[in-house]
Amino acid sequence: MLYIWQMLQDQITQYTAEINAFDTTSADELEQFRIRFLGTKGIIKDIFDEFKAVSPEEKRTLGKVLNEFKQLAEAKYQALNEITANSQLKAENSDVDLTLPGEGFEIGARHPLALVRREIIEIFNKLGFSVAEGPEIEDDWHNFSALNFPEEHPARDMQDTFFIKKGGEKGDIALRTHTSSVQVRMMEAGQPPFRALMPGRVYRNEAISARAHCFFHQVEGLYVDENVSFADLKQTLFYFVQELYGEGTKVRFRPSYFPFTEPSAEMDISCTICKGDGCQMCKHSGWVEILGCGMVDPNVLENCGIDSKKYSGFAFGMGIERIANLKFEIKDLRLFSENDVRFLKQYKTAII
Ligand code: PHE
Repeated sequence: MLYIWQMLQDQITQYTAEINAFDTTSADELEQFRIRFLGTKGIIKDIFDEFKAVSPEEKRTLGKVLNEFKQLAEAKYQALNEITANSQLKAENSDVDLTLPGEGFEIGARHPLALVRREIIEIFNKLGFSVAEGPEIEDDWHNFSALNFPEEHPARDMQDTFFIKKGGEKGDIALRTHTSSVQVRMMEAGQPPFRALMPGRVYRNEAISARAHCFFHQVEGLYVDENVSFADLKQTLFYFVQELYGEGTKVRFRPSYFPFTEPSAEMDISCTICKGDGCQMCKHSGWVEILGCGMVDPNVLENCGIDSKKYSGFAFGMGIERIANLKFEIKDLRLFSENDVRFLKQYKTAII
């Protein structure tokens, strides 16, 4: 009679030979091997089940043989698994040389206009100015009429304005020519005090050249409250210039005209490039113009539903390109919108 333990011993000898001889680089074949020997319904599980029927005396010797057999199967599986996993990786990346250094990725740069806009906003934030935005497609009322532009004012002319559609509810629809339209929207929506900046893109129908573009960016400011005077306007803008271009930068105001401010002025600063000695930037005058400003015309306040007897205010507006030009000496306006990476890269900054 053949004892169970003898039968098991024979089987183990046979399977051991099979395992020792087994070799593959195929993940599929290896998986079949695993299922056959180590699976939940595999050979080893079967043998262990039969082992339960072996007599206690034989269990000790056979137990050891059985454990060794199991370890052999597991070790084989692990060794081959490593090899097949590696060869699969190599097959997937056959044209990749893993010994080459990695490709670093570059951190992008902020656009110089974005840098300057942020700097302007930060300075006025310290004076309590918030930021307001409005639509780039505007109606005649918000871009012109409410701002006291007479019907026949040349600024409404087709040459300056990109008109989109004739005769909307509030007049012809156009691309806004300045962000003063946002001031109107703000004043219409509430009551003073107002203290806000309006940054944004504006459009004018101009031939594109180094010194003119069909769109550019502005930051306008508005301050309306009781007893706001021209002295407040001067002090606010003087502070702004000291913060932006450094202490000692001089300012001067020249009388000017805007339909929506009275009195109106243009503000010059001492040339930041030559410090007033005279250079190309300031056309040898020592001064460069940076913004327009004035006291909000009472008509504009009334147009927006604000009592002009009780309230007064000032407004100012500047082109961000102009300010960036003076900061970075960018001579050609077109560079701002061409997205030439060689240009943009120069303004890499640690501020993200
Ligand atoms: N809106 C004017 C422009 O586009 C600038 C400005 C704003 C002037 C506010 C005075 C007051 O030129």
